[in-house]
Amino acid sequence: MSRLVVVSNRVPVPDKAGNPPAGGLAVALHAALKERGGIWMGWSGKSTGEAEPGPLSIMNNGAIQYALTDLTDRDVAEYYNGFANRVLWPICHCRIDLAEYARREMAGYFRVNRLFADRLVPLLRPDDVIWVHDYHLIPLAEELRRRGVQNRIGFFLHIPWPPADVFFSVPVYESILRGLASYDVVGFQTDYDVDNFAACLRREGSGDRIGGGRFRAYGRSFIAADFPIGMETAEFAELAEDAAHDRRIREMARSMQGRDLLIGVDRLDYSKGIPERIAAYEAFLKGNPEFQDKVVYLQVTPKSRSEVPEYAAMQENVASLAGRLNGSLGSLDWVPMRYINRSLRRPLLAGLYRMAKVGLVTPLRDGMNLVAKEFVAAQDPANPGVLVLSRFAGAARELDSALLINPHDAEGTGRAIARALSMPLAERKERWEHMMKRLLSHDVTHWCADYLSHLEPQRPTLVPEPAP
Ligand code: F6P
Repeated sequence: MSRLVVVSNRVPVPDKAGNPPAGGLAVALHAALKERGGIWMGWSGKSTGEAEPGPLSIMNNGAIQYALTDLTDRDVAEYYNGFANRVLWPICHCRIDLAEYARREMAGYFRVNRLFADRLVPLLRPDDVIWVHDYHLIPLAEELRRRGVQNRIGFFLHIPWPPADVFFSVPVYESILRGLASYDVVGFQTDYDVDNFAACLRREGSGDRIGGGRFRAYGRSFIAADFPIGMETAEFAELAEDAAHDRRIREMARSMQGRDLLIGVDRLDYSKGIPERIAAYEAFLKGNPEFQDKVVYLQVTPKSRSEVPEYAAMQENVASLAGRLNGSLGSLDWVPMRYINRSLRRPLLAGLYRMAKVGLVTPLRDGMNLVAKEFVAAQDPANPGVLVLSRFAGAARELDSALLINPHDAEGTGRAIARALSMPLAERKERWEHMMKRLLSHDVTHWCADYLSHLEPQRPTLVPEPAP
């Protein structure tokens, strides 16, 4: 079996005991790396404060080697806070209005990708399989090909791919498309994303599907298909069951005083629809006064990308919406919404999901949304809660037994919340069982193996590749 080389912007480096950080993706990729041996390369998350990026720092952990690079302040500003998170992120989430195009930042994005390629090439062996993750590193394969790398290279996009008209608003859209065509396998979260990508190539006249999940574009043939990411379903379900013994979970349950819990867990990001969710909760409470004082909505929202102005502005906005809601509807002994602005550890989260009667996952647009899957996996099979899920989350393609809502429709979402809270046990069980079956058969290990089976060298491309 060939070695695996994973490249991603951030690298989940293990703790001193060698254990990878919690979370399905980190665990699954570490398992694949451990089995095959290999490298995980990426940004250290630090900047040098100097004019030059630092040297590559290498750490060995059994069969896995971590190769981390510091970036300069300018790199972080232009590549990460700039083009990746102020152009590609908003565009892929259909927010042209929030995209800030600056030539300097676009150049910085391509410069950092060249740096990654320069640093990776000396570490590679001819039969390594390379798997690049996410929108920060789209041009990496093209840069590697320019340096003579002929290995199989795959890419997986964790976020959505937008419709052609939205994507074409990026001034360097053609370089991005050509970058994707340099991979052997381009993985998306859903079939909708693949269709949007195909439409971009067609409209541009640069390529199209050639059948069997294959595309031909910019003189190369490659696979582009959906590989919906899964989670560590069985392990998370166990975590949630064990959490019943956790002191903090018992204290939380006591503090509810018999009220039902609704839960939302999201990074503080405008794509997550948090203000719209608060409005829907308010519409629900006003439209169903019999539920007032009978429910509590817990929103757990760690801060994210605070150096990007749109994210900083959101912090103020969500905090003031939560305060306004509690001020107008709360009473002496009832706080309708609890708002926590930091992350919670996974075992505690698992216990909270299990305690909740309703999971609110209502992004305006989301590649997959693993919170939706985690909420389902954490439920008590004998008395499961109900998932209220945005139809604009990738997860809705698989979890179609959730109550699917349009997050822009506050009243409609409010009605779905009321329905979820009143749903009979038999219907809750039937919906949950259907979703859980899917999550167990399509977990993150299945996802990883499925993707890699498409990337393995024994799967030749239909059309021979031109010499690099
Ligand atoms: O969902 C896309 C993603 O980049 C994830 O890979 C990552 O965990 C998350 O967003 C957080 O982003 P950041 O690394 O910018 O904090």
